[in-house]
Amino acid sequence: LVGSEMCIRDRASCDMGEYRHLHIRPASTAVGAFVDTIDLRTIDDAEADELRCALGEFGVVFFRDQHLSPDDHLGFANRWGDINVNRFFASTATHPEIAEVRKEPDQELNIGGGWHTDHSYDQVPALGSVLVARELPDLGGDTLFSSMYAAYDALSDGLKETLLDLRAVHSSRHVFGAAGAYRAAGADMFENQDQATQDAVHPVVIAHPISGRASLYVNRAFTIGFEGWTPQESQPLLDYLYQHAARPEFTFRFSWEPGSVAMWDNRAVHHNALNDYHGHRRLMHRITIEGGPLDAYLPAA
Ligand code: SIN
Repeated sequence: LVGSEMCIRDRASCDMGEYRHLHIRPASTAVGAFVDTIDLRTIDDAEADELRCALGEFGVVFFRDQHLSPDDHLGFANRWGDINVNRFFASTATHPEIAEVRKEPDQELNIGGGWHTDHSYDQVPALGSVLVARELPDLGGDTLFSSMYAAYDALSDGLKETLLDLRAVHSSRHVFGAAGAYRAAGADMFENQDQATQDAVHPVVIAHPISGRASLYVNRAFTIGFEGWTPQESQPLLDYLYQHAARPEFTFRFSWEPGSVAMWDNRAVHHNALNDYHGHRRLMHRITIEGGPLDAYLPAA
């Protein structure tokens, strides 16, 4: 799993900002890029290498007008590494690797509403996901993304110095567990609650595995405190970081269209699926790709 990411990273040494094979259009000042004139069914190695660099640079890449069957979706995802089969999401009937992110007209809660980054509760968190729009409401259902590079860069030198020495504890228990938030809200959206036993400790500021940039790695959904701090000590600083990380200038709001695909990097962005389309159906197909261990960011001396 680690090997597959390293192997692709070895192939592509990224010269950020230099794209010879892809047409890249930044989506906002801080986060995201559209990749135009590409067919994800037929990308070659040079395009794949540059896509990895673009993911490292922009944190999330967007594609319009794709025509991906579930097999095409899987074929594209397979290029990035091993697939992480999420234990909590229902999968499609035909492809266990494809998770359904579904909200029915009679449901109140959605999956992924609220700022978060996926899988931070795993010892080796997933790299990211490839999300394909299958059924969209006529209005609403956009997804917000926020840059954790920009969030870190904008902190004061004093707070950066404090955070560089900290590690944070992340957990899945309070979200996906039998006593978790979704169950408490009466929602029966996830499977295998008994497997929500993951806790992991990661540096609060990580060196991004592709770009090497400092990235703020705590999130409101899964981070439960700083290592060695009490919950009462941790929460005020975490709350400050969460509202800081969601500042509008670090974000981009992606409006889905039929044929849209987004691929994000969990180590560089937070995302938030807006829940503003009650009474309508939204169905997305998500494939998650394994990542590698996370290292603390070490600033140049
Ligand atoms: C997610 O958090 O994976 C869901 C994102 C979305 O549905 O837009």
